[in-house]
Amino acid sequence: MKKNIFIIGGSLRKKSYNKFLASNLIEIGKNDFNFEIFSDFNLLPMYNTDDHSENDWPSALLEIGDKIKNADGVIFITPEYNFSVPGYLKNCIDWISRLPNQPLDKKPVCIQSASLGPLGGARVQYHLRQILVFLNARVMNKNEIFVTFAKTKFDETGKLIDEQTINFIKDQLNGFKIFINE
Ligand SMILES: Cc1cc2nc3c(=O)[nH]c(=O)nc-3n(C[C@H](O)[C@H](O)[C@H](O)COP(=O)(O)O)c2cc1C
Repeated sequence: MKKNIFIIGGSLRKKSYNKFLASNLIEIGKNDFNFEIFSDFNLLPMYNTDDHSENDWPSALLEIGDKIKNADGVIFITPEYNFSVPGYLKNCIDWISRLPNQPLDKKPVCIQSASLGPLGGARVQYHLRQILVFLNARVMNKNEIFVTFAKTKFDETGKLIDEQTINFIKDQLNGFKIFINE
């Protein structure tokens, strides 16, 4: 049976390489997975404890929480900002972390990143992993996906055109399918 995966990914940019990467998973993983992508981080205001109570949450957050709870796994796909997690993604995770029955608890998770540089976002992945430790997500260690020199890996429409990267992603998704069932 196909696994349902919720992708939290991309950046706020319209032509975000990380958004492109997320969209490509739909084709690459179509035999084994159904994907739903969330990248509209603007729907969440900056987190402030004063602005909500236990019964009063932004509707977008409740939707994200339900999608995570109902998914077999979550894939984070993110750029690296200043060697770390972009503010909008950290804000999104901070909101998620406050939800009752915190939805990332024990949830199978894997990570991908794309950047313009030669490390493909290697550093953001380890900061994100650290955050996910606190949230007790079950993060897959290998295979890791770092899309380096992202400008050269996609065509103008956002299609991934690098065979090696596509094969790395296939390997990661195959591993994730097994990991979800473990
Ligand atoms: C505020 C900011 C900080 C950045 N810091 C890094 C960085 O630490 N490492 C890196 O590889 N690229 C960095 N970049 C460049 C990103 O890799 C590049 O902007 C990439 O296109 C962002 O992903 P996106 O296309 O999904 O928006 C940074 C970009 C911005 C706007």
